[in-house]
This record gives sequence, structure tokens and C-alpha cells, in this order.
Amino acid sequence: MTDTQSSTGDRTFAPPEAIASRANVGPAVYEEAAADRLAFWAEQAGRLSWDRQWDEVLDWSNPPFAKWFVGGRLNVAYNCVDRHVEAGHGEQVAYHWEGEPGDTRTINYAQLKDEVSKAANALTELGVQAGDRVAIYLPMIPEAIISMLACARIGAVHMVVFGGFSADALASRLDDAGAVLVITADGGYRRGAPSALKPAVDDAVSRSPGVRNVLVVKRTEQDVEWTEGRDLWWDDVVGRQSPEHTCEFFDAEHPLYIMYTSGTTAKPKGILHTSGGYLTQVSFTHWASFDLKPDEDVFWTAADVGWVTGHSYIVYGPLSNRATSVMYEGTPETPHRGRWWEIVQKYGVTILYTAPTVIRTFMKWGEDVPAGFDLSTLRVLGSVGEPINPEAWLWYHANIGGGRCPIVDTWWQTETGGHMINPLPGVTSLVPGSAQVPFPGIKAKVVDDEGNELSDDSTGLLVLTEPWPSMLRTIWGDDDRYVDTYWSRFGKNVYFAGDGAKKDADGNIWLLGRVDDVMNVSGHRISTTEVESSLVGHPSVAEAAVVGASDPTTGQGIVAFVILRESGVDSGDELVQTLRNHVARDIGPIAKPRQIMVVQELPKTRSGKIMRRLLRDIAENRELGDVTTLTDSSVMNLIKEKLPAAP
Ligand code: WT7
Repeated sequence: MTDTQSSTGDRTFAPPEAIASRANVGPAVYEEAAADRLAFWAEQAGRLSWDRQWDEVLDWSNPPFAKWFVGGRLNVAYNCVDRHVEAGHGEQVAYHWEGEPGDTRTINYAQLKDEVSKAANALTELGVQAGDRVAIYLPMIPEAIISMLACARIGAVHMVVFGGFSADALASRLDDAGAVLVITADGGYRRGAPSALKPAVDDAVSRSPGVRNVLVVKRTEQDVEWTEGRDLWWDDVVGRQSPEHTCEFFDAEHPLYIMYTSGTTAKPKGILHTSGGYLTQVSFTHWASFDLKPDEDVFWTAADVGWVTGHSYIVYGPLSNRATSVMYEGTPETPHRGRWWEIVQKYGVTILYTAPTVIRTFMKWGEDVPAGFDLSTLRVLGSVGEPINPEAWLWYHANIGGGRCPIVDTWWQTETGGHMINPLPGVTSLVPGSAQVPFPGIKAKVVDDEGNELSDDSTGLLVLTEPWPSMLRTIWGDDDRYVDTYWSRFGKNVYFAGDGAKKDADGNIWLLGRVDDVMNVSGHRISTTEVESSLVGHPSVAEAAVVGASDPTTGQGIVAFVILRESGVDSGDELVQTLRNHVARDIGPIAKPRQIMVVQELPKTRSGKIMRRLLRDIAENRELGDVTTLTDSSVMNLIKEKLPAAP
């Protein structure tokens, strides 16, 4: 790739010729979308198979309640599976599944069609009807995908709950959604050992009278408690069904799934996605953002299907495009730190999509680990979940991408359903650290508190100014909260994303973290992400989390928690001073952290987000709040033990 200087003085990376010369979309896509946004999305909807054509592309007569492809009818599962088999691609691999212990399954499109049809027949036999909610609480095994598609096929609404969530979290979701069935497993493999799932389901379902049955996949063969009449083995019920199933077609606005996401309050929000618009956008973004070539690529989103990333870019996007994907059950360090790279080498992965927090972990482990594997098949890399700091970007680019793969940093949310702001691999000159430009057909702006557009590098709020096909339609059961949370701050036509952002002179958008994570120090707005990025830019630091702690003189003071790299660096006062000065030099004296604490671990949610709220509790010397959504709640004790007495 050619390196040049951008107007901001940073390095940029032009699209590699090998990709640009035969990319799925070229530069004209932006003009086409700008000329007629709705016609552009209608064209993308035409990539799908519809039983009945829509009458109107968008009905926005009652904002913020959108209807896309009004009057159109389709079946989402048919689009993801059957039509590829009918077109003669039944033999093509849909998933190379890799279990953590090393067992594997290869599922082609014809087999997937049979499995989904059997599961759809089983759901119908269990009395599940179109519109009913079905909870899926499974490890990363193919039955998770089969269950989702079986629901879609019969018009039931799936609600996947990440297998790492507690019984309480599951119970509150079952209750909120009014689920009639739970699909689970005896357990799954995590860090080299079987972990149980069924006990959490038993606990949660005992409090959820609406759940009639629990369908249990056998994965680990561990003993499980059994409630006769309620619990059923997947193999018994699904196993005996016919692989023939004639699908019905549903309205474009028929609900497809609910995905719960934590808001700023305790009660999680059930984000509702529907069918036609959702599939249109995830399908087209998957094809354009990753330049997916169905006959050549091996695509791998290394995330859990329990998150929206998995829904859109393990299941619906890839299948609608007839991709061959990799699905991996376990953790990156099991049984060794090269497991991911071994998988890339084994299956010849060409496109890899992961999160910055994972990349920084790999950085911590050192470049020797990936260097031991053949990663030469990779051609496009993706990033999602948080801003990717330039150091991690450059490391990913050099050590995983061999300097030849564009990195597509994708900004989006559970609420947006699909990609919203990201470069295109065959078109955009990449600027490390920025998600860059709105996807074709998407309108985004950075505004000040009054809603005036900012484009001069000053910090503001990210808003989306036009509805988009894969937008959430409401919060399940709570239209008022939907309006209040997203469509009130700047009126009913402007979506408030909750992220701080700035736009530079080249028109690139830089995401600066959630606005609740923006600190105010002596009247200056400083992003936690910016300070974190500076800290991880120092050679001694592997990971950093920054919070604004209340301060009697400055309003907020910057408190940083850092994990050092493994090379046995000094962690004493001298290093802390060095790091404080490093940040002051990097960003400006105003950003110099008041306090830096060296820790072994950071508290993270199961989706990998640092729980700054807990760190703020520590920084402000308070009793700890709720720790139930942490991956590992002992982390907080470890941190507290290590701390000097608060100043
Ligand atoms: C929030 C949404 C999108 C699926 C996974 C997370 C942050 C996400 C980026 C990015 C900067 C990002 C934002 C957003 N975020 N991707 N590429 N650059 N920030 O979904 O749990 O709904 O979180 O994640 O803060 O609002 P989510």
C-alpha cells in the first residue's frame, strides 16, 4: 500500500490496487446514493428475493416510526438459504465450524436448508406461531444459527441472549419479551473446560411462567436437571422432523428479532429489528464494506452470535450473500495464544472482522505469535466496537495484514442494525483511528448542543439525519422510551447516537466514545478515548481505561487505569510520572491525568466494553455498584487490592 501524508500530518493508506481494480463497489456508489437515496436503497433491496414487490420505499409520515419497503413481502430465511440452493450452490460451504476442543463440523447450504427446515417444523410442532418470541441461549455452535433461521422461517421473533449472561439477566429478558420457548444446551466449551448453561435456564424459567418448553442441545454431555413435560432434547424433537418445509412470506415490517442492550439505566432496552429493511442493509453493507466475493472468500467475524455483530455479520449478512464463513466456539488463547491464526491458516480466511480490545490483547502477547502462522490469504480486515487507536490499527495492519490489507473500521450500534460510518476497502484512503465517512445512503453529522453542524475539528455529538433501512423500529414494549432516548434531543427527525465525535477538514469523522464518557476538565471537553489512545501509544502500556472523577477544583479530574506490557517494565512512581508527561505532551497539559493506577486487569462486560462506571466508583472512592454483567467479578477485588489509598 502507498503511504502518503494527510492534511492532518498523519499517514494515510491508499486502497491497494489488487482490491480497487476489482472491488464490488467503486467511487461512483457515493454519487449514486447522493443523487437519490431512496432509489439507491430500493436498488439494494432488489438484491434480495421478494414474494411481493413493495409499493413505497419509505413511509416516514409518523417520525420516528419508520416503515421501509411498505407492502413488500419476503422470507428472511429463504433469502439466506433456500435461494442459494435453488440456484445450484447447495454444495457450497456455509460454515466451517470449529469447536474449542478441536472438533469440527462443515455445513453446506443444502445441509443448512435441511437443518433449518427440520427446526422450523419442530417449532411449529411445539406450538410456536408467527409473532411469538423464542429465546436462544446457546454457546457458539451451529444450532444457534439454525435456531435463528428457523424462527425467521416461521415468522417467530428470536431473542438471542449471550451465553455468558447470568440467570437474572436471562430471566428479566424472558419476562420483558414474553418468551414462550427457550432453546439452550447442556453447556459449551470455554477456556478448555465445559461450562454449564442449563442451570441458569432452570433458574430463569422457574420465574417465567410464559415459557412452555425448553429445547436442549447436547453439546458437552454433562448431567442436567430435567423437568418432565417442559424440557425436551433437541435431537429427539428436531431429529425426527421432515427436512421439507414450505415457507410463508411475511410483511417487510414483520419483526425479526429483539436484541437487548444495556442503556445508562438498569433496565436493558429490547431493540426491535424487522425484516426487509434490516436484511437489505446488512446484506449490502456486508458485500460492500468487506468486498465479499461469494465464490472466493472465506469470511470470519470473530464475535459471538449473542451480539448484534454476530446477528448481522455472522448470520444475516454473510448468508444473504452466499458467503462461506468460519464460526469458532472458544476463546483466543485456548489451547494456545496462536489459536486464531491457526484457524486463519487452516481455512484460508480472507476477511477477518474483530474488535480493538482483542487486537490490543494480541499486541500484548507480541507479534511473534501471529508470525508463526501463514496469514497470507487475508485481504481485508475489519474493526468494530470502539474507536481503534492508531497504534492498534498500525499493529493490526502490519502484523496481521502483512501491510497489504485495508482495515475497515466500522461505526455502528445495536440500534443501527448494520454499518453506518466506515471506509470502503476499494475506494477510501484510510486514516488510522477514524471511521471516516458515512456509508453510501447514510446521512450523519456532528453537531453542537443546539444542533448546529460542526466541521472544524471541534468536539460535538454524532447524529443521523435521515432514517435508514436497518434502523431499530422501537424499544420492545416501550415506544415512549424509544422516542425519548433517541429522537428527542434534536427533534423527531434526528437520531441522537449518544457518541461524541468530531469532523476534520478532510471530512473524516472521528468517534470519541460515548458522551457519558466525555470528561469536562476545567471547562474543557476531553474524551476518555483520546487519553486512552495516548496511553496505549506509549511502549510500556498494553491497555488503558480512563474515567473522569469529580474534582473540587477542576470539575473532573482524569484518572487512568493501565495494564503494562508483559516485558517486566518498572511499574513504580517514575513510570507513572513518565506516562502523565507522555499524555500531556501528546494531547496537551489539560489532558495530563491526575492519577494513574497500574492494574493487572480491567473490568469488562461480556461484550468486551470496559465498565467505566465501576472504575469511576473506585476513582471516587465509593462503594462499588452492580457488577453482575462483568465477565469476571473478581477483577474488581484484584484492582482494589493493588491500589494505594485514595488521595
Ligand atoms: C457503541 C455501540 C456495533 C456492534 C458492536 C457494538 C461504539 C462501535 C465503533 C467504532 C467507535 C464504536 C460506539 C457505539 N462503537 N463501533 N468503529 N468506532 N466507536 O454495538 O454494543 O450497540 O455499541 O459502540 O460508542 O455507540 P453496541
